Amino acid sequence: MTGHNAPDDEMEAVLLAAARRAIAYRTAPPAHQRAAASYADCVAAFDDALPDEGMAAPDVLAALVARAEPGLHAATGPRFFGWVIGNSHPVGVAADWLTAAWGQNTANHVAAPAAAAAETVAARWLLEVLRLPAECSVGFVTGATMASFVALAAARGEVLRRAGWDVEALGLFGAPPVRVLIGEEAHASVFSALQYLGFGKASLIRVPTDAQGVMQPDAFADLLAREVPEGAPLIVVTQAGHIHSGATDAHERIVPLAQARAGWVHVDGAFGLWARACPTRASLAAGVEGADSWATDGHKWLQTPFDCGYAIVRDAGAHRRAMTIAASYLPPVSEHERDPSHYVPELSRRARGFASWALLRHFGRKGIAAMVERHCAQARLLADLLAAEPGITVLNEVVLNQVAVRFGGASAGAPEGVQGDALTRATIAAVQEEGTCFAAGASWRGGWILRLSVIGFSTTDDDIRLSAQAIIDAWRRVASAAGAL
Ligand SMILES: Cc1ncc(COP(=O)(O)O)c(C=O)c1O
Repeated sequence: MTGHNAPDDEMEAVLLAAARRAIAYRTAPPAHQRAAASYADCVAAFDDALPDEGMAAPDVLAALVARAEPGLHAATGPRFFGWVIGNSHPVGVAADWLTAAWGQNTANHVAAPAAAAAETVAARWLLEVLRLPAECSVGFVTGATMASFVALAAARGEVLRRAGWDVEALGLFGAPPVRVLIGEEAHASVFSALQYLGFGKASLIRVPTDAQGVMQPDAFADLLAREVPEGAPLIVVTQAGHIHSGATDAHERIVPLAQARAGWVHVDGAFGLWARACPTRASLAAGVEGADSWATDGHKWLQTPFDCGYAIVRDAGAHRRAMTIAASYLPPVSEHERDPSHYVPELSRRARGFASWALLRHFGRKGIAAMVERHCAQARLLADLLAAEPGITVLNEVVLNQVAVRFGGASAGAPEGVQGDALTRATIAAVQEEGTCFAAGASWRGGWILRLSVIGFSTTDDDIRLSAQAIIDAWRRVASAAGAL
């Protein structure tokens, strides 16, 4: 098969071969959680000279599988707790296969009516499930980083428009200064999104955080009073779901303070916003609905395949002003039509709404609530099992799905902290080496930690027990080698 006019049987053969390979991978994922091949191994495997001649389709597929599979983490498996990664649920994978096969360019509702309509309905369902205002507009982006970028572009435009400056027309040079308040432990991606929009990292007003990493409301109020002149354009960035602790800022205090100063509040809720989908956890994100914009991911708690995030903006007009691409050859939209490109930076892109629609349809409101509840209970179980072991300390209040663990010394700083850092790093390496489960480290509040994120749809309580035991065993090996027990 060499092109568009491939005979039907060749087309079928290559698509079926890919499906078979994918099914084999998903039904018998790698036993070891960590990729067997390193980046350098993978580059060596892929690193052929650019071929002059083409290769038959089945051979291309076989060559791709042979090169890629050794370099895959078991990120779709039940004992993968690294970073914050959903499991690419098979319903979403299947919808994504169809999305690719259908090949719709989701720029506008005329070129891709079904794709635009799926986004319209998935957006409505998303607002309902997250209990956000029905008037919001939703852009289907690649992830929470771009969701924050889009929402903050709308914020920038609107707070400057209120100050008499049209940033979409005039740009930032000469604009009145915008004050941006943000927690000093906001996710790195939000600092990047702000930087892309001209709000350099040194220009931000950083609010001190507490032991769970959330903004101290009194410090916020104080900085607002001291650093933001009356009437100045103001953006406040909050967080629902701290990357290590899972904690959420005190929106019930912060949002009214910001809005009393005509500020725009943007919430980074990449995974934590989903607490709102679960009646028993919703109070963790109380007051979040009063904000002006929100960023969240589909590829975390909704389990869509990558890349899938949502930029949600209360003021749909501000959202559109920040993102719309218009040209004579692009069709106009009337009031009840949606052009997907009006809410995201890209013009041409794949139809992200299909996988989102499919997973919202598959889980339903109750299924999502049950999954969030189960993950939070499993995180609690994991934390309890680990904390029962001498020498292991759980540093966060496990209110959501994140567990931050320290080995051999809870506090940061010398000398106990330095030894604790070394023991924690060694235990992480031992956990990864042994391979029952996967998790990785980070530096938090001056000390090294193991971060565990329980967010895969396929994780069972037995996976949690097995993983806790593997982590405890790794710690015992490290501790006894170091004479720390
Ligand atoms: C709190 C938070 N914000 C933002 C992001 C960035 O999300 P993405 O990688 O989907 O762009 C993450 C990713 O883990 C996150 O946990």
